[in-house]
Amino acid sequence: MPVLECAVHWARPDDDPRMRDLLDEGERARYERFMRAEDKARFVTGRWLARTVLAEATGRPPRDLRFTTDCPHCGGSHGKPRLPGSDLDFSLSHSGDRVLLVLVEGAAVGADVEQESDRDINSLARMVLTDAEGEVLRTMDDRKRGFHAYWSRKEALLKATGHGLAASMTAIHVSGPDEPPEVVAWEGEAAVSPVRLADLDAGPGYAAAAAVLTDRPLKVNQVPLRY
Ligand SMILES: CC(C)(COP(=O)(O)OP(=O)(O)OC[C@H]1O[C@@H](n2cnc3c(N)ncnc32)[C@H](O)[C@@H]1OP(=O)(O)O)[C@@H](O)C(=O)NCCC(=O)NCCS
Repeated sequence: MPVLECAVHWARPDDDPRMRDLLDEGERARYERFMRAEDKARFVTGRWLARTVLAEATGRPPRDLRFTTDCPHCGGSHGKPRLPGSDLDFSLSHSGDRVLLVLVEGAAVGADVEQESDRDINSLARMVLTDAEGEVLRTMDDRKRGFHAYWSRKEALLKATGHGLAASMTAIHVSGPDEPPEVVAWEGEAAVSPVRLADLDAGPGYAAAAAVLTDRPLKVNQVPLRY
């Protein structure tokens, strides 16, 4: 079966006026609503990265690219960004000083990067992990790394389907953090098959993953840092 190429792009958040200049009216209004400077920077850089990468892939000027963000649940405009009329699918994520975009042609993709935090892993694990995953986590020396690896894989899956965190993370059972990433079982309204998972290298203190709704093996191409 032919491999499916998955292009992984990274940037560092920066509220640069040249990036801000590419926002459309809706994005500009959203930018203004962010209270914290770091949230503004992550948002602007994400949309700049999406326009830059998709402009290269489509041959269209970045300024002409308009994303739809229809929510499948309520019809509001806060869903997964998509480029209408294109076979390209992309997924954006940002955390700490990482902005991630994964691009795939001909299949739906989800991506997630998580900065490891000192939040209470035990109580978060009950909301995110199955009992079997919780058992694996308890045996790990670096439980913070293990928990964030689980989290990023599951969030990537739910971003590939477009459900986001509106769907249950405990309905998904993925392989252990030190095993090759794969879905062991998935139930509930968001469940989909076939699906491929990949762990991404986001550097120390971060976990990241991509999920693609395909049965083809993934070939992950890490593109050098954009900004
Ligand atoms: C999507 C979601 C998982 C993002 O979580 P997060 O960890 O805060 O953020 P991340 O940085 O990983 O991802 C954010 C990006 O995901 C993308 N995104 C937004 N909604 C998405 C969805 N439903 N599916 C896939 N991607 C989505 C956007 O590109 C967004 O960044 P941007 O708006 O700056 O461009 C979370 O916001 C969510 O679950 N939203 C949906 C909730 C929902 O549908 N509720 C019901 C409403 S009626």
